[in-house]
Amino acid sequence: MKSAIIYYSYTGNTKRAADVLAEHLKQKGQVEIIMLKGLDESGNFLMQSARALRHKRANIQDVNFNLSGHDLICFGTPVWAFGPAPSMNTYLDSCLGAEGKDIILFTTYGSGTGNKRCLDYMQNILTKKGAGSFKRFSVQQFKVGDKEFVASKIKKVAP
Ligand SMILES: Cc1cc2nc3c(=O)[nH]c(=O)nc-3n(C[C@H](O)[C@H](O)[C@H](O)COP(=O)(O)O)c2cc1C
Repeated sequence: MKSAIIYYSYTGNTKRAADVLAEHLKQKGQVEIIMLKGLDESGNFLMQSARALRHKRANIQDVNFNLSGHDLICFGTPVWAFGPAPSMNTYLDSCLGAEGKDIILFTTYGSGTGNKRCLDYMQNILTKKGAGSFKRFSVQQFKVGDKEFVASKIKKVAP
């Protein structure tokens, strides 16, 4: 099985979840990891929130946008102002090859407000691109360091 994990992480929490997911999927086959980096994102919380709230897109570092060779595609983002980080929005808009694919969406969050809305927003973009099935998991920011807890969430959704 060939998998891709595309994630954005500003302070490292989503990266930790992505790392546990990668460890799990590597037992099943090849895993391509694509880390998104915003080129024009603000470091200021209010600016970040304002941009995310308006579902802005960020300019991102060039990465592989062609996912057609993968059986399973996983997208991870922190919840920012009830939605995905702008860098994830850009990638979701631009990626190719999601048609008919199994998708895992994952988030990390603080209070949890807007977590479902964030996942729904991502799912909606990919549904319009013809993605096949969706599974989702989320981890609260203070639980990302608990590898076993994260792995237990992953086992419920990943092959
Ligand atoms: C700009 C900004 C907006 C945020 N908005 C939310 C939010 O709406 N709901 C929530 O539960 N957490 C929110 N958080 C908390 C993050 O989702 C949480 O800390 C996440 O784990 C950060 O992931 P990262 O370390 O991968 O960047 C926000 C954090 C930032 C920096």
